[in-house]
Amino acid sequence: MAEIYSEPYHLKISELIDLNHNRDIWEFDAFEDGRNLAKIIGEPPEYPLHFSVQNDFNEWWVVLKGSIRISIDSDQEIFAKSGDIIRIPSGNHEIQFTTNLDPCVRLVVTLQGSEQVINTEEIENSSQSRYFSKSTNTTHISLDDVINEFENSPWTSTILEDERNRANLICHNPGMSNNPHWHPAFHEWWTILKGSLTWEVGDNRPIIHAEKGDLIFVPKGFLHKITTVSDETSLRLAITTPEDLHIYTTDDDYAPPPKS
Ligand SMILES: [Fe+2]
Repeated sequence: MAEIYSEPYHLKISELIDLNHNRDIWEFDAFEDGRNLAKIIGEPPEYPLHFSVQNDFNEWWVVLKGSIRISIDSDQEIFAKSGDIIRIPSGNHEIQFTTNLDPCVRLVVTLQGSEQVINTEEIENSSQSRYFSKSTNTTHISLDDVINEFENSPWTSTILEDERNRANLICHNPGMSNNPHWHPAFHEWWTILKGSLTWEVGDNRPIIHAEKGDLIFVPKGFLHKITTVSDETSLRLAITTPEDLHIYTTDDDYAPPPKS
């Protein structure tokens, strides 16, 4: 059972994979943030899944390791590799999903206790009427395509947005830090898609060192400074609410002090 952590939390994806090395299929509930349940799912090579899903929310996945082929409602098959994002819009959908030649690990951002219904039984009649949710967000976000859009780093791109979440992809240069700030109203979390970074959270706490694939969760109220320590540019996906109020330490004398 996942929980909303009251302290900063670091999930090292390599340790989680090591822990599950003798299992073909595994699942780990990482945390909740008050809006989402973030879980990690591991699947073996060439693993086929065929299921129907009834979502009352937008679910999305980030491929952390390996690659997948996926078709939603018999649309053209999508090939998604490490760093790519798949978005399954709310509504009823038929999903065909296969991992490729390597084991696959993916982050699934879903909703605990929702009205989601998954039926993994063989779907006899794929022509049954279905409800399609329309949205401006695309189904497949290719990390390579996003990177190729921008010639010069640093940059930030909002790549997912709905009533629950905003996901910003942030590219920073080696040695670069964000402007330290904190959020009074929501927990923020990140998944690392490239490079290595450090998180300095609160006061006098050990620095968190995060690598590609890792998840970092910082509860609301904690000041956070994020620095790229790799020799290459870093990429991180930052998950906030759509109203992402920031309080910077230098510009708001009236704000309450951040947690230490
Ligand atoms: Fe933040």
